[in-house]
Amino acid sequence: MIPHHIAIVMDGNGRWATRRFLPRVAGHKKGVDALRACVRRCGDVGVRVLTVFAFSSENWNRPPEEVSGLMELLALALAREVPQLQTEGVRIRFIGNRSALSDKVRAGLEQAEALTAGNQRLLFNVCFNYGGRWDIAQAAARLAARGEPITEHSLDRAMSLADVPDPDLLIRTGGEMRISNFLLWQAAYSELYFSDRLWPDFDAAALDEAIADFARRERRFGRTSEQVTPAVGERRAA
Ligand code: IPE
Ligand code: IPE
Ligand code: MG
Repeated sequence: MIPHHIAIVMDGNGRWATRRFLPRVAGHKKGVDALRACVRRCGDVGVRVLTVFAFSSENWNRPPEEVSGLMELLALALAREVPQLQTEGVRIRFIGNRSALSDKVRAGLEQAEALTAGNQRLLFNVCFNYGGRWDIAQAAARLAARGEPITEHSLDRAMSLADVPDPDLLIRTGGEMRISNFLLWQAAYSELYFSDRLWPDFDAAALDEAIADFARRERRFGRTSEQVTPAVGERRAA
């Protein structure tokens, strides 16, 4: 079974570069190449939504030259990649707090979103200056401002990504087994997949492997195994 929605924490760019005695930003550049291949593969195998973690609200704490390098890379990647996304039928969308971004970066995001808004093959969400806690807080604040009751349902509708089903599969590369403030709310029932590969080395074959692993999982959502997969005899009787 192909997951409808895949989310990825693209981790390991810095280590990839450091191992090659390169500046960390070189790893992020290589990471863009891996992401391009991943977007293409998702479209080809029928994944409908891909959500990636590109810059966390905590990543501002990195050395200033790395932060500015990442901002420049975002602007550069947008200018270079968007025409290709357009021909591949990919709609790009940015998730996160935009108010802290420079006018130039913000304009680039808006332009890319507007240009690809009509594409339907794959929805590609880039979480940039995103934090799972920010997401929950902004949802609650919006409901409070409108005087609406805060319930599980209303919060869910006010969160980022409210218009797509929750991620079926959440991948983290780079060997770390943590969420790092990614989709805290939306990942409640995602299948988790951790890969030791550093993000720049995560290619289409590695993605296929993760999808194949997902296909072997039994998603129970609180039920029992028997409820989810009735025994062969019971299935025949039904
Ligand atoms: C992930 O790679 C990309 C961003 C956080 C922007 P890292 O830069 O965290 O790479 P490592 O974890 O240091 O290797
Ligand atoms: C998570 O990676 C954020 C992104 C991939 C953008 P980090 O490398 O920032 O995560 P921690 O700090 O090691 O948990
Ligand atoms: Mg990291």
